[in-house]
Amino acid sequence: MLRRAVQWLILEECPQLEHNGKRFLAVCPMELLPLHSVRVVCLPAAQQIAVFHLPEGLFAVDNYCAHQHVPVLAEGTVEGTALRCPRHGWCYDLRDGRALAGCGRLRVYEVLQHEGMLYLEAPEPEGAPWG
Ligand code: FES
Repeated sequence: MLRRAVQWLILEECPQLEHNGKRFLAVCPMELLPLHSVRVVCLPAAQQIAVFHLPEGLFAVDNYCAHQHVPVLAEGTVEGTALRCPRHGWCYDLRDGRALAGCGRLRVYEVLQHEGMLYLEAPEPEGAPWG
């Protein structure tokens, strides 16, 4: 079982990167997301995305559990790529967001490292202020 500290970051205006036709947002220098840690990225529209740095790789999913839509998944426990919600135990695969226990699916986001920075695929919700 893996335990991590939850950190918060507010992104309002940040550098962006284009890659394979997708837009990515700079989150933080990689040293601020060491192995075995998670960071919650709080976007301007109050959307939260949890970014995990695990031995299996970097993963990003919505921080909201599909069960009760509460932003708690960054506080969950991780085994391999399985993320278990701390509230009632629903479990998701961080690689594709599918439910392993419970139901529903988490939205997943691509994560990149570029020149020592961590970049997160920009979500494209309706009316998002990304210009
Ligand atoms: S809120 Fe996540 S399992 Fe209930």
